[in-house]
Amino acid sequence: MSRIAVFGTGYLGATHAACMAELGHEVLGVDVDPAKLAKLEAGEVPFYEPGLDDVLKRNVENGRLRFTASYEEAAAFADIHFIGVGTPQKKGEFAADLRYVDAVVETLAPLLDRPAVIFGKSTVPVGTAKRLGERARALAPAGNDVEVAWNPEFLREGYAVADTLHPDRMVLGIDPESPGRAEEVARVVYAQLLEEGIPFIVTDLATSELVKTAANAFLATKISFINAMAEVCEAADADVTVLADAIGHDARIGRRFLNAGIGFGGGCLPKDIRAFMARAGEIGADEALTFLREVDNINMRRRTRMVDAVREATGGSLLGTRVAVLGAAFKPNSDDVRDSPALNIAGQIQLQGASVVVFDPQAIMNSRALFPTLEYAYSALDACERADIVLVLTEWQEFRELDPQALAPVVKNKVILDGRNCLDPQRWRRAGWTYRGLGRR
Ligand code: UDX
Repeated sequence: MSRIAVFGTGYLGATHAACMAELGHEVLGVDVDPAKLAKLEAGEVPFYEPGLDDVLKRNVENGRLRFTASYEEAAAFADIHFIGVGTPQKKGEFAADLRYVDAVVETLAPLLDRPAVIFGKSTVPVGTAKRLGERARALAPAGNDVEVAWNPEFLREGYAVADTLHPDRMVLGIDPESPGRAEEVARVVYAQLLEEGIPFIVTDLATSELVKTAANAFLATKISFINAMAEVCEAADADVTVLADAIGHDARIGRRFLNAGIGFGGGCLPKDIRAFMARAGEIGADEALTFLREVDNINMRRRTRMVDAVREATGGSLLGTRVAVLGAAFKPNSDDVRDSPALNIAGQIQLQGASVVVFDPQAIMNSRALFPTLEYAYSALDACERADIVLVLTEWQEFRELDPQALAPVVKNKVILDGRNCLDPQRWRRAGWTYRGLGRR
């Protein structure tokens, strides 16, 4: 079993640290945020991620997983280091802000006086790993015995534990000019996963960085493609959900990630496609990615389209209407509201003069911090009280299972707009509701 340090304890880092302990390793999670560390040390996950609390608690209790703010402690404890800090979008531009990734290397490397491998997991612009490797070797007392490899993470929020312990594939980028021990070390760390037969692709640093950005760009493109079809379906009086089912049967296309609606959000896809475009520009390949600008445009248009649809449904003006918003998280099974289409739409509707009441099963606290002026309810039923219109903006199971009969006496008008095409129109119409989906008749 190995000793491992994981830098960053957000969605990615905390999950990686807990899952590495679950595999039997001794793990030290490192973060600069004392509030987060205190929670994690007590075995509490500072965000909502199904199943992670069990894994965390079990491994904190059995002593395999500990947390610290001390880089000195981490450098003394482990010779295998994972970087799992955020790479958000820079303010006012498309490029990724690498200050947190850089800070880990700048702080850690001067403390490395024994041979060590640093595995980057964060999503970074191509070329970053090479630069960090040079920097780490220059700063470390162990010099050329310090290696930086890239091991991108593909986990989805809401399925983070399963995606980490049973990923579709693992990718490792190593420096082809000075291949060290990274592959050998990774094979030990991930031995259990490799035994399961999970594909393990070893490549150069640049390719490994690009695999991650390309995967996210493809997923974003798939969603924007079906949302473009939704626009066409609306113009042609056709149904995009049936269209998606039908083209999805073609194995080359596949039905997953073809759900039309208010589009993608979250802490990854939107900023990753923008950072990808920015980086392509820097390395002279911008023409290759101009289509991503269109992918982004289509996606942002979905939010406006939803606001327009609400205005149309309320007779042309939102002024003085009462709007119930079901869902605030950027997707179900998450409390993450970063770049959430749902919250963005709720905010726009409020700006146009409506009074908006939001309910989400997990994301109320985060929503309140971001949009303190919106009104929040503690149940779907509460949110719908006297509503002129009900919007479903995140497809939580709880909302899919809402009973139209039970909701009817609560609202003022039985009008529902399904921003995720997740409800059964027949069921709602039979119960006397006016139902509208996006891209459906
Ligand atoms: C994504 C990638 O899936 C993951 O591999 C990567 O590591 C990080 O980014 P995540 O941000 O957790 O993961 O969310 P994902 O499940 O991909 O959903 C992204 C957004 O797309 C959500 O807002 C979701 O509602 C939306 N979406 C997804 C659609 O609008 N339609 C779909 O068909 C699928």
